Amino acid sequence: QPIHLSDYRPPAYRVTRTELTFALDPAATRVKARLHLERHPEREPGLPLELDGEQLALKAIAIDGQPLGADEYTLTDSGLTVHRVPETFLLDTEVEIAPKENTALEGLYQSNGMYCTQCEAEGFRRITFYPDRPDVMATFSTTLIGDAASLPVLLSNGNPVERGELPGDRHFVTWEDPHPKPCYLFALVAGDLQKVEDRFTTMSGREVALQIWVEEENLGKTDHAMASLKRAMAWDERTYGREYDLDLFMIVAVNDFNMGAMENKGLNIFNSAAVLTHPHTATDAAFQRVEGIVAHEYFHNWSGNRVTCRDWFQLSLKEGFTVFRDQCFSADTNSAPVKRIEDVSFFRTAQFAEDAGPTAHPVRPDHYIEIGNFYTLTIYEKGAEIVRMLCNLVGWETFRRGSDLYFERFDGRAVTIEDFVGCMSEVSGQDLSRFMLWYSQAGTPEIDAHGEYDYASCEYRLVLRQRTPATPGQAEKQALHIPIRLGLVGTKSGRDLSLTLGGEALGSDAVIHLRETEQEFVFTDVSEAPVPSLLRGFSAPVKLRFPYGREDLAFLLQHDADGFNRWDAGQRLALLALDDLIAAHRNGVEKVMDPRVVEAFRGLLASDPEDKAVLAEMLTLPSEAYIAEQQPLVDVDAIHAARDFVEQSLAVALRDDFLRLYEANRSDVPYAPEPEQIAARSLKNVALSYLMALEDEQAIELSREQFAADHNMTDVRHALTLLVHSSRDDIADPALKAFGEKWAHDPLVMDQWFSIQVTRPQPDVLERVKFLMGHPAFSLKNPNKVRALIGAFAGQNRVNFHRLDGEGYRLLADVVIELNRLNPEIAARLITPLTRWQRFDETRQALMKGELERIRAEELSPNVYEVVEKALA
Ligand code: ARG
Ligand code: ZN
Repeated sequence: QPIHLSDYRPPAYRVTRTELTFALDPAATRVKARLHLERHPEREPGLPLELDGEQLALKAIAIDGQPLGADEYTLTDSGLTVHRVPETFLLDTEVEIAPKENTALEGLYQSNGMYCTQCEAEGFRRITFYPDRPDVMATFSTTLIGDAASLPVLLSNGNPVERGELPGDRHFVTWEDPHPKPCYLFALVAGDLQKVEDRFTTMSGREVALQIWVEEENLGKTDHAMASLKRAMAWDERTYGREYDLDLFMIVAVNDFNMGAMENKGLNIFNSAAVLTHPHTATDAAFQRVEGIVAHEYFHNWSGNRVTCRDWFQLSLKEGFTVFRDQCFSADTNSAPVKRIEDVSFFRTAQFAEDAGPTAHPVRPDHYIEIGNFYTLTIYEKGAEIVRMLCNLVGWETFRRGSDLYFERFDGRAVTIEDFVGCMSEVSGQDLSRFMLWYSQAGTPEIDAHGEYDYASCEYRLVLRQRTPATPGQAEKQALHIPIRLGLVGTKSGRDLSLTLGGEALGSDAVIHLRETEQEFVFTDVSEAPVPSLLRGFSAPVKLRFPYGREDLAFLLQHDADGFNRWDAGQRLALLALDDLIAAHRNGVEKVMDPRVVEAFRGLLASDPEDKAVLAEMLTLPSEAYIAEQQPLVDVDAIHAARDFVEQSLAVALRDDFLRLYEANRSDVPYAPEPEQIAARSLKNVALSYLMALEDEQAIELSREQFAADHNMTDVRHALTLLVHSSRDDIADPALKAFGEKWAHDPLVMDQWFSIQVTRPQPDVLERVKFLMGHPAFSLKNPNKVRALIGAFAGQNRVNFHRLDGEGYRLLADVVIELNRLNPEIAARLITPLTRWQRFDETRQALMKGELERIRAEELSPNVYEVVEKALA
């Protein structure tokens, strides 16, 4: 039974203050709640009080001190209704819950013996009876009572205001959060934790204590997160004028966590994988991920907490904006072009696939069954692309004024996407009503472009035609407002030409606006024949086709003034070559490497890179997943063979260059996660990958040496992956064994150890996955382990997951069925690869659908039910 955006109404009663007392116990935690309630001024008098509540054992209930009789309220599986209540009143309830039985990791649960919470989106209803919706905002006071010896640390939102001893070796701490908040931002943590402390002075001169709480063995892994937090706080002041608003900001690392992290007010809770780093245990990518997530959660303090969502349909209001903010922060802190390349390449692979599949949904969905299923790439990343377009449309300074207005006008309120876009429209004077379609229309717009240069008139005519394919529930689509940044690169000069459109001089890099289904743009005074460089910086989340010849692409790869499009030209060129090879493989014809690709790569290798990190990206071939995304029908084996062939051909032709590149970028300086070092390491490791494609003695020796040198996890992990993914078990096995033994005590490194093995291309890998599920370091109850083993196998090992005997699909379905009972949110996410069955041949389609039907026959959680129903619809 889906709920609909159009049914929104304010709650009948609102809570102005919430007082909670927790007596912590693994099997029987007692939660007392005192809610200060009043009728919502916009709702009629006399309505019953409806509270959400799941898996709660009610022990007591009273209104204004008077216990309620059994006929005065109704209890169901999903909540509690009090039939008659006054206009203003106090509600007292007491419930019992069992944190140690909570494997769904929503509400209050235990991880390694410590207590923690995850309330977004609807976890608070598993803690106490409450109007569990984001438009109910209250101040909170929280008292935690626990065993003094085993739970020395008791944390909640806000500031600690009282603490003391209690009989029976227990103690308590009371926390007061002065900022009204919805209950999804509530958090508590209790356990035997240690802290690392630092300080930050805000722009107005207030001192904030910063604390990162971890288990003792992780004390050495917090430096980078702390440094990132301070950078993020300073950046938000500088860039958005946003200052932190409490005296204390805490981060806690927990091992069992469904997502990356959570922005609970003043008490962010993190998946340990998203906060802990050490040069010996975390890769450069992990360091950058931690920096981005720490910033993301911190930025939510304004975009999400101070101004929150009216209802969960507006989820992208806080997530899209906050992702945009963290992307800009990371771009400012690291290599901006590489950050954009990484984000776009991920987006075009994964979000495009989501938008083209059966679970496609608008950035603001209009109905859902389980909101937990909507923490998606569409809500987060496409939402961020929309905010980026808005920012580019109005210009940064105006955007910043719009943001100031938004935070000022809506501070302390729960609002909608219209409220946000309305601020931008107000400060810019632009009519953004058509732009709003980006929020309501699902699917990836496709643009077909073609252009013609007329020598006689010096005109360049560019014709753009847009179309958005039908998605489930949306057959007809309207034309969107699509901003297209472009340049015209002169074929003689190799330079950007100046652009004149309709008599107006636009400079050499400009944005044109496609608003109709088809539009023609005539550029005048174009002094030489150009190659158009379109959609620079990925100025809109669309697929753009243009009939580029390979020479055009090689030309853009060399001359485009836009770094992003230079990279994209290389990707397009490689894709054209890959297309031929995929066809050759399918037809059983001998594969021949396109010499233009070899020459383009030779040129790249000979150039003196201004940005090594960009060069590393340019030398990286499109992933199998991205190649698959471009094919009308996915042939996993042909794609794998074609990509391998290109890699090997390049390695054969350019071996000496790769060797030189490898040597030139080696270094013994002490590890630091700094942009220059990271760039050099990625370049060196790209070179090593090509060399290892040959598997000759020298390449094997270099990989072994890099593995044994044990300089930092980036290099070790890369070398280990190359050894393990080689065709030689005699070099794979010893390295894997040594690594596994060395790091058996570190769960985050063991996650990497699992992933590396289950992504190897060898055909025996499925048996290995099954075997590793019995490994002592593996647990189905830990989401990181599930992602590292099952998720990596099904998502990244394409040739083996899609085995023609269907065993890969069967394995995934078995795990989904088991997880459906333990952790529905993770189970529903894990199904994703099976939902993409339409993209494959008939045999595989039938096998995948068969497994989906086997799942459907189970007694399902709403999460899994919703995904499976859509996939089979
Ligand atoms: N708001 C969190 C973030 O993006 C994510 C929490 C999602 N939780 C969930 N159970 N789906 O920072
Ligand atoms: Zn977020």
